[in-house]
Amino acid sequence: MSAYAESALFEERLPDRFPKLVNLYEKAKRDFWNETTTIDWDQPITLSPEQRTSLARLLSITYYGERAAMTIAGQLVASVPDEEARQVLACQVIEEAKHVGAFQRLLKKLDRIYPASFFARRFLVDLIETEEPTAKLVGMHLFVENIANHSFNALRESLTDPLVRQVLEYVARDEKKHTAIAVLYLPALLQKLPPHKAAWLYAKQVKWLTMGLLMVKDGYEDARKLNVDLAQAGQKALRQHYKLREQMASTRGLLDVPGFEKVIDVVAKLAKG
Ligand SMILES: [Fe+2]
Ligand SMILES: [Fe+2]
Repeated sequence: MSAYAESALFEERLPDRFPKLVNLYEKAKRDFWNETTTIDWDQPITLSPEQRTSLARLLSITYYGERAAMTIAGQLVASVPDEEARQVLACQVIEEAKHVGAFQRLLKKLDRIYPASFFARRFLVDLIETEEPTAKLVGMHLFVENIANHSFNALRESLTDPLVRQVLEYVARDEKKHTAIAVLYLPALLQKLPPHKAAWLYAKQVKWLTMGLLMVKDGYEDARKLNVDLAQAGQKALRQHYKLREQMASTRGLLDVPGFEKVIDVVAKLAKG
């Protein structure tokens, strides 16, 4: 055990530097739900066979994202220095485990689990293999969780199937707490980042943003078949990203891409072919 981890473990007094994270921890515990019993799995699916296939392809991307999120939240429990953050992240591990369970069940009921695309694999593996906890939080909590939130919203707006909507509603409720972890905790970590790490984080974000965009682009065709506008969801996610940043005490090391909304539009046009 490193000297740092040892001093944190045997600290006499529990720190109280993050009261908002303590509130989030309480909220997470209050909101716990059981995907086995809360969701009415006996409801019939009301989608056509083509819609089932398209939705299963889209939600397969999500399913791998949920698995990565469970792993990453677990890695962060072991690597962030603050107790309050560890407690919230420990709740997230359980929440993501439930999301994995819920999507696995939904996908099998819809159709099947499809293999991950090239970009989904590269992106998610890179997030898992990144050791720096600050970067992991930026990639997972600020980027992926926010994109996931907006794609769930877009699916919920377009799909009327009661079972699909029920699963998405419960999952989305948890995901909002996960972007909140970034807002409440990242500034403290970003401020401590040495300059060379901040420059490295900047480059990482360019890579992740590109991969994330290409990962979402893989879903455009199936989304179109379901009348789901992923490009619009991307624009909303971008606007929300800047709102989240405004709530953060420090955005040191965070990528600011002027004109990124135009990039989303170009990718959407390319995807339409
Ligand atoms: Fe999740
Ligand atoms: Fe999440």
